[in-house]
Amino acid sequence: MRVLVTGAGGLLGGRLAALLAERGLDVCAAHRRSAPPPGLPAVALELTDPGAVEDLLERQRPDAVVHAAVLGRTDQCEARPDVAEAVNTRLPGRLAAACRSRRIRLVGLSTDLVLDGTQALSDEAVTPAPLGVYGRTKLAGEEALLARDPSAAVARVALVVGRGHGPRGTASEAVAWSLRAARPVRLFADEFRTPVDAESVAAALALLLEGEATGRFHLGGPERLSRLELGHRVARVLGLPAEGIEAGFQATYPGPDPRPADTSLDSTRARRVLRWMARPLDEALRATRTEPNSEEPYQ
Ligand SMILES: NC(=O)c1ccc[n+]([C@@H]2O[C@H](COP(=O)([O-])OP(=O)(O)OC[C@H]3O[C@@H](n4cnc5c(N)ncnc54)[C@H](OP(=O)(O)O)[C@@H]3O)[C@@H](O)[C@H]2O)c1
Repeated sequence: MRVLVTGAGGLLGGRLAALLAERGLDVCAAHRRSAPPPGLPAVALELTDPGAVEDLLERQRPDAVVHAAVLGRTDQCEARPDVAEAVNTRLPGRLAAACRSRRIRLVGLSTDLVLDGTQALSDEAVTPAPLGVYGRTKLAGEEALLARDPSAAVARVALVVGRGHGPRGTASEAVAWSLRAARPVRLFADEFRTPVDAESVAAALALLLEGEATGRFHLGGPERLSRLELGHRVARVLGLPAEGIEAGFQATYPGPDPRPADTSLDSTRARRVLRWMARPLDEALRATRTEPNSEEPYQ
């Protein structure tokens, strides 16, 4: 199967492109400025340019598309809502229309941050109510994608841990790199997530690409824990000193991007329909890279 991965230079998108290729799929990496994983055929382009999406599909002729390109930094979305809307909302809609008319299987990535964070372990039936521009534009992107291509699927991914791609770290990498450099880290004791790793997400995507399941799927890890608990777990699993970890609370957060308290995901639908299971958290954390861009995980 020939799969085009957009956003293949991204933290999660890049890792997914590499993992889908390792699974034997014929992956083409569509990226912009950030470099995709080495060894993959790649196309560099600005996806919001007029005609870019249609041209890409005509040239690459994929059987399937995994759409991971995003304006993903929540603070940048607050600062540039126009760009967030173009990339996170209008682009998935355009891509879905183009895939639908060419009978290309489409799986879009979304986020747990479409939820308002007022309840634990939300399943797909919970009505999303995003707090910030990122979540709002991503939710509108889900809606646009599924409206334009009802045969598509959307994978709502939880906080990503374990090994990522490129210079930015996953949540576990950010903690590990700080602790290793003896930089203190403040982590919220009142912010709950179900962290998941790219390996588990890639396994779910492979199942979605092979099958015909439609609609939204929550992809969360097997444990619900606070950011503070996650930090201590990272330190324990990777053998790093935990003294630098301080407890923080959402009320003291100075940033412009509102933070939902509990966006933990119930992934029963993915388990039932796809027969998918996320990896155990400790196993996921062990793949955390020792430094940015490193190929080496902690031992
Ligand atoms: N990372 C997480 O913790 C996480 C958690 C839950 C869900 N997700 C979802 O997973 C997906 C992938 O996230 P990620 O972590 O890989 O994001 P990321 O690291 O921010 O990467 C996104 C990539 O998209 C590219 N891109 C943005 N706008 C583009 C455009 N107009 N044309 C072409 N490329 C463009 C960017 O290229 P440049 O490098 O040139 O800017 C960047 O490399 C997103 O749907 C996100 O919502 C991520």
